[in-house]
Amino acid sequence: MAPTFGYTGRPSFRSVSFEHSCNDLLLVTGGAGYIGSHVVLALRDAGHAAVVLDDLSTGRRDLVPDGVPFVRGDVGNGMLIRRVLADHSCRAVMHFAGSIIVSESTSEPLRYYRNNVTASFLH
Ligand SMILES: NC(=O)c1ccc[n+]([C@@H]2O[C@H](COP(=O)([O-])OP(=O)(O)OC[C@H]3O[C@@H](n4cnc5c(N)ncnc54)[C@H](O)[C@@H]3O)[C@@H](O)[C@H]2O)c1
Repeated sequence: MAPTFGYTGRPSFRSVSFEHSCNDLLLVTGGAGYIGSHVVLALRDAGHAAVVLDDLSTGRRDLVPDGVPFVRGDVGNGMLIRRVLADHSCRAVMHFAGSIIVSESTSEPLRYYRNNVTASFLH
């Protein structure tokens, strides 16, 4: 019999031990992007619910699976983040929102610093 490998093309969170119950939502920032959208799928496969926050600057709304709450907005908007965390009773955040084009990061370093560093602080 040929060996089988559990690889499904995306990471599995089944072995990850969360301190909260599976009924608690996780906020996934950048969940409409490449990494974040796959994380949302993996969380769903593992029975964890998620809410996505993304400004769609490079992400795509159609990458967020049906049934997953979606909030369009800037991760640097502290009031919005607080509202989303409260409205959805989020117990954890997985943060993937950011800018990733290396050439842009050297030509526009302050924009990248703001989006990838200071926007991550909850003011
Ligand atoms: N792609 C890779 O191979 C890889 C590897 C290692 C680490 N990472 C890291 O994972 C993270 C995500 O990378 P990716 O490849 O998914 O990029 P991506 O561009 O596909 O996704 C980033 C998402 O963040 C959103 N976003 C950007 N700025 C935002 C803001 N201010 N507010 C809300 N949403 C915002 C974009 O619209 C997009 O949907 C980055 O931190 C990257 O460095 C990526």
